[in-house]
Amino acid sequence: MTNLSPSVLSIRKMTTDDLDCVLTWRNHPDIRSYMYTKHEITLSEHREWFERSSLDPHKHMLIFEVDEIAQGFVNINESSSAGVASWGFYVAPDAVKGTGRKLGGAALNYAFSTLQLHKICGQALSFNERSIKLHQALGFHQEGTLREQYCDGKIYHSIICFGLLSTEWQVTIKGLNK
Ligand SMILES: CC(C)(COP(=O)(O)OP(=O)(O)OC[C@H]1O[C@@H](n2cnc3c(N)ncnc32)[C@H](O)[C@@H]1OP(=O)(O)O)[C@@H](O)C(=O)NCCC(=O)NCCS
Repeated sequence: MTNLSPSVLSIRKMTTDDLDCVLTWRNHPDIRSYMYTKHEITLSEHREWFERSSLDPHKHMLIFEVDEIAQGFVNINESSSAGVASWGFYVAPDAVKGTGRKLGGAALNYAFSTLQLHKICGQALSFNERSIKLHQALGFHQEGTLREQYCDGKIYHSIICFGLLSTEWQVTIKGLNK
């Protein structure tokens, strides 16, 4: 029998119980290769990062779930300017196609409704086609290009900067719900 009921999407705070799972995702080559920090992260390094970040009320480490199964990680960092934050994210390497879009939507609802933020900024390496398409699909504006800003050890890559205002997200949601 096929289950036709819609999936339940949710965002919750990351806990120490998620540490192993998130580290496995973060160290996966399909994820690591799109990050600025590309080395394999050790468990102690990961624990220290989580403990340090948990003490900072401006950092929000979140887990995206589909039907109560963890499918991705989202990081929202509020900057010094009130209501403005940057985000980063990745989906479980075995997640089905379309998970990124769902994660993005759920995380932005959390950012603009629960956290009441004004603006979310994102950055993607110029070869990260999926992230660029995802930002565009979610209604982000391309606000600039940092030309040859990142060196992977061999060659320089540009960084694409995106921004989305709370008011713009309301417009995107209306379009998605039509
Ligand atoms: C970026 C990421 C979250 C996207 O998740 P996903 O589940 O692959 O995304 P979706 O399937 O929802 O697709 C998002 C867009 O990418 C496109 N896409 C999917 N796979 C693609 C591929 N192999 N090549 C090019 N585009 C692709 C989709 O068509 C969609 O674009 P559209 O809305 O214009 O159709 C995921 O790939 C990931 O975790 N990547 C590694 C970490 C990372 O790059 N994080 C972002 C850092 S800025």
